[in-house]
Amino acid sequence: MAMSNRLMIDGSYRDRITLGSGERVCLRLVRPSDKVAMQRAFAELSAPSRYKRFFGAKQDLTEADLRYFTETDGWDHFALGAVAVNEDGSEGDGLGVARCIRLADDTECAEVAITVIDRMQGRGIGRALLERLVTAAVERGITRFRFECLAHNLEMQNLLKKVCRVVETRSDGEIMVAETDLPRQLPMNTPSVPEQLFNFYELFRAMAIHSVDLQMSLSRAAMKRSMGSTLVGAGMLKHFKRPSLFRPR
Ligand SMILES: CC(C)(COP(=O)(O)OP(=O)(O)OC[C@H]1O[C@@H](n2cnc3c(N)ncnc32)[C@H](O)[C@@H]1OP(=O)(O)O)[C@@H](O)C(=O)NCCC(=O)NCCS
Repeated sequence: MAMSNRLMIDGSYRDRITLGSGERVCLRLVRPSDKVAMQRAFAELSAPSRYKRFFGAKQDLTEADLRYFTETDGWDHFALGAVAVNEDGSEGDGLGVARCIRLADDTECAEVAITVIDRMQGRGIGRALLERLVTAAVERGITRFRFECLAHNLEMQNLLKKVCRVVETRSDGEIMVAETDLPRQLPMNTPSVPEQLFNFYELFRAMAIHSVDLQMSLSRAAMKRSMGSTLVGAGMLKHFKRPSLFRPR
């Protein structure tokens, strides 16, 4: 069930970010007109990356693949794309995709796959996509993600642990299956919140989540003061670091 009638991540959603390496990237839902960009991005993908994504030596994307990957219904199947932003502000090459497909026999769970073209890997695109995919999934009533990846695909496993709370992993031969749970409600610091507001949201959110901790720390500090010590719990400072969206605390 949707959290509201208006989805935050819908066809009009655009989020422009600047990577640590300086490139500007636009994150938005994949649409039917993305077939050419997707074909080009696939052509750029190395054989090992194709193998990691498709668990086989996939040579090309067929017309049927392209239709399936770009003509999604936006609810049970949706994909977020990362697209380069040219100097004039127009959209450039397709750089990566994170896809979410609801399971037919377990409709609160969705299977997720992510791919970033080789020359742009390791720059934060996979993480930016997965964080926003979580938001899009939660607002579509999805409560769990299932990932299948090669057992030796540490990049994917590390990325997953950075963004999601992994609750179960099992091995099926060469394939590792991981399940994560998702928050039932969207956090306040959704990815569409402007960066300059982020710290305020994060501060208030941390204060709400950790109010009990804070109260306990304050009473401990008061106790220490009354016992002649001036130390205040240094642990409080950790609440003001910027965490990942759903990284386990
Ligand atoms: C897995 C993949 C999507 C990661 O995307 P990415 O844009 O390269 O990842 P990011 O730069 O956002 O990195 C996010 C985290 O992933 C992990 N990670 C990324 N590259 C890694 C590497 N080479 N080795 C180990 N961990 C790595 C790290 O934990 C990283 O966090 P950090 O930068 O704070 O250390 C990308 O490598 C890829 O497309 N691989 C080929 C296809 C694939 O394996 N898909 C998964 C099958 S579902």
